[in-house]
Amino acid sequence: MNDYEYPLNMTGGHTRTQLLALMHQRLDDARFDHCVRVEQTSRELAAQYGVDVDQAGLAGLLHDYAKQVAPADFERVIKVQGLGTELLQYNRGVWHGMVGVWFLQAETGVSDPAVLQAIRRHTTGDPEMTKLDMVVFLADFIEPARELDVEKKARHVAKKSLTAACLVELQSTLSFLVSKGARIHPLTLATYNALVARKTK
Ligand SMILES: [Fe+2]
Ligand SMILES: [Fe+2]
Repeated sequence: MNDYEYPLNMTGGHTRTQLLALMHQRLDDARFDHCVRVEQTSRELAAQYGVDVDQAGLAGLLHDYAKQVAPADFERVIKVQGLGTELLQYNRGVWHGMVGVWFLQAETGVSDPAVLQAIRRHTTGDPEMTKLDMVVFLADFIEPARELDVEKKARHVAKKSLTAACLVELQSTLSFLVSKGARIHPLTLATYNALVARKTK
């Protein structure tokens, strides 16, 4: 197991071991293992791109905390918390980022705003994505168990450019959604446009 620890003021007072135990209550083993790999990849990308390694690692570790929350529980929180019923047009793939932070805050006390933002944005992206947000967004796509050609391509591009690697991911995600005839969240399209503009600056 890794030997690093996070500042307790970022973790709701929990040690990393305690956070892992909380995650095990919410996630099956495969999803849990993915989160630990995303944590490690986030830390590596953060070091490479001058981002706070602890914020990136913690956001990477917790990014899918609510991935397996039951849809009915998400819908209840969306309605009760007034998070906007337009969200209900989408699904758990979107909710576990945007609404997932509510579960994370309620159940772990993690409160670091930048960490929560990176988790909130990891499903849809955001046109205002910070480098930290991009690190977590990308780490989710290129953690070591990802082996599709497009994932390998993004991993390769990430050696040189965080923005270009995120664009590889977005192109893949958008193409996939279109091919399935699925809805595209407006933030994802806006993110794509914003990153294309950033890249060509
Ligand atoms: Fe996710
Ligand atoms: Fe993930």
